[in-house]
Amino acid sequence: MKKRLKNRLSQFVSSEELTYIYNSYDVIGDIAIIRVTERSRKYSRIIAETIMNVQRNVKTVLAQTSSVRGDFRLRKLDFIAGQNKTTTVHKESGCLFSVDVEKCYFSPRLLYERMRVAKQVGNGEVFVNMFAGVGCFSIIVAKHSKAERVYSIDVNPAVFRFMQENVRLNRVYGKVVSVEGDAKKVIEKKLRRIADRVLMPLPEKAFEYLPYALLSLKKAGGWIHYYNFEYAKKNENPIEKVKLKVTEKLQSLGVTFTIPLDRVVRTTGPNWYQVVLDIKVNFCGHNNTRIHENVL
Ligand SMILES: C[S@@+](CC[C@H](N)C(=O)[O-])C[C@H]1O[C@@H](n2cnc3c(N)ncnc32)[C@H](O)[C@@H]1O
Repeated sequence: MKKRLKNRLSQFVSSEELTYIYNSYDVIGDIAIIRVTERSRKYSRIIAETIMNVQRNVKTVLAQTSSVRGDFRLRKLDFIAGQNKTTTVHKESGCLFSVDVEKCYFSPRLLYERMRVAKQVGNGEVFVNMFAGVGCFSIIVAKHSKAERVYSIDVNPAVFRFMQENVRLNRVYGKVVSVEGDAKKVIEKKLRRIADRVLMPLPEKAFEYLPYALLSLKKAGGWIHYYNFEYAKKNENPIEKVKLKVTEKLQSLGVTFTIPLDRVVRTTGPNWYQVVLDIKVNFCGHNNTRIHENVL
C-alpha cells in the first residue's frame, strides 16, 4: 500500500517533496487518518484523494494535527476529503467496534497485542481491563477465550457509551461488564481480590496504578499485563529500563513475582518504545492482606 501510495503521489509531487510526506497512515473502519508535517500540509488533499483511489473502502480522510494527549488520550483531527464524519465501525479479529475517532482513543496497531493477550486467558478466568477504551481488548478476550467475566473500565463518558454499544454489537452482554469511572476508585469499591488477570493498557498511568492492579488480583495472585512508554538511547535497552522500575516498585511492596514475557509492542517516536511486561504475581505464602494494606 505504501508503495502504491508513493507511486501515485509521484505523478503530482516532486521526489524531493515526497520525502516530507509520511507514507504510513491508519485505517479505522472506513476512515483513514494521515499525519502531515508543516512541509507536506499543502498536499493533504492530494494525499487524501490518492488514498481513496488506491483503497476503495476508505470513505473519509482526516489529518491528525496534534499528538495524542490528556487523560482521555485524544488527538485533534481535521477533515480533509470524502464524507465529513468522525464515526465508523471497525472490524478486528471477528469483532465489530463502533468508534468516534475524535472522541475516543483507538489504535488499529494493537491488533496483534490484543489477540496475544486473549490467547493466554484460561477457562473460567476473571479479567479486569483497567483502561478499556471502546472495549477492544475486553471484547476480543470475551470472544476468543473461555473467560468467565471481563470487567471493562473507562473514565471517559463518551468512550463508555461506545463500549456499551460494542458490548451489544458483539453479543457479549453479561460476559463483559462495562464500568464507568476511575479505575482506582472502581477497584477499591467493587473489584478487590476478584481477578485472575489485570490489563493496564494506558502507559502514562500504569506505574501509578500498579498497586490497584495488585489489589484487584485474587488472594493467590495472578497475571498483570503492564504497558509503558520508555525512552532508550542507542546503547540502552527499553525493556530492561521498564523492568528495573517495576521490579523496584513491586519489591518495595513486598510482592513475589516473575516476568515470564516482555517485548517491545511498537516504536512510538525516535528512541521511544511501547513495552509490555507479562507479570506473574504470587501471593501464596505471603500475608497478602499486609501487601494490600501497603498498597493503599
Ligand atoms: C490507550 S486507551 C485504551 C485503549 C484500548 N485498550 C484499546 O485497545 O483500544 C486508554 C483509555 O483509558 C481511559 N482512562 C484514562 N484514565 C483513566 C482512569 N483513571 N481510569 C479508567 N480509565 C481511564 C481513557 O479514557 C482511554 O479511553
